[in-house]
Amino acid sequence: MLEIRNLEAAYGHAKVLHDVSFRIEKGEMGFFIGRNGAGKTTLLKTIMGLLKPQSGSIRYGEEEISGKSPEELYPLGLRYVGQEKKVFANLTVRENIEVAAFGSHEPMDRALEKVIALYPKLKNFLHIKAGQLSGGQRQVLLVGRALVGDPKFLLIDEPTQGLAAVVIEDIGVILKKLKEQVSAAIVEQNLALVKYLADRVYILKEGKLAKEIKEKSEIADTQGMEEYL
Ligand SMILES: Nc1ncnc2c1ncn2[C@@H]1O[C@H](COP(=O)(O)OP(=O)(O)O)[C@@H](O)[C@H]1O
Ligand SMILES: [Mg+2]
Repeated sequence: MLEIRNLEAAYGHAKVLHDVSFRIEKGEMGFFIGRNGAGKTTLLKTIMGLLKPQSGSIRYGEEEISGKSPEELYPLGLRYVGQEKKVFANLTVRENIEVAAFGSHEPMDRALEKVIALYPKLKNFLHIKAGQLSGGQRQVLLVGRALVGDPKFLLIDEPTQGLAAVVIEDIGVILKKLKEQVSAAIVEQNLALVKYLADRVYILKEGKLAKEIKEKSEIADTQGMEEYL
């Protein structure tokens, strides 16, 4: 579904990604872990067309998408949920979903239904300004909003960052539901969540792929991953 080969990316002269190759099959969730500054965000941004790769290939389905813009990738079903948790703070939750529905030509009632199916409690927050949501609620809104339209592949950057343990459990439940609907590449430092959801784990270290873990039994043993965090 998504196959990256020999990807290199840089900010100006500062090279960040070195010869990164991996694949995520349809229906899979691939997780990316690694220390701060390892290049995880840069990797997602490069796939999503927010940063042009220097070289390498990004294949999505049958198509080479390397160098395409986010606007070109949206109709192909790629969605990006960034690390910044950016919502339209002055709009209500409902209006935030409306913007996504409008942008993707999905009827609002269907969009709303989808988001609420993902997280029923959001029903109680529809009239609240998104800027007033807690970090967890905001994250739920962002992930829910990414489901509007016809998404096929989500790129999610640190969905549980800064959230309390109980909220992280909610996010786990939501991501599990997502797994039935889409494929995904997720950056995540919470190893319990990685263990619960991952089909593949890729460890990034200083912009290079240090390790790839595909065996279920190896994913279950998260001790081996801790040294890379
Ligand atoms: N906009 C930018 N301009 C220049 N350097 C950047 C920029 N964003 C990130 N970097 C650098 O790229 C490297 C990787 O950063 P990043 O991809 O954000 O890592 P991670 O998400 O794994 O913490 C770091 O050395 C960081 O300082
Ligand atoms: Mg990051």
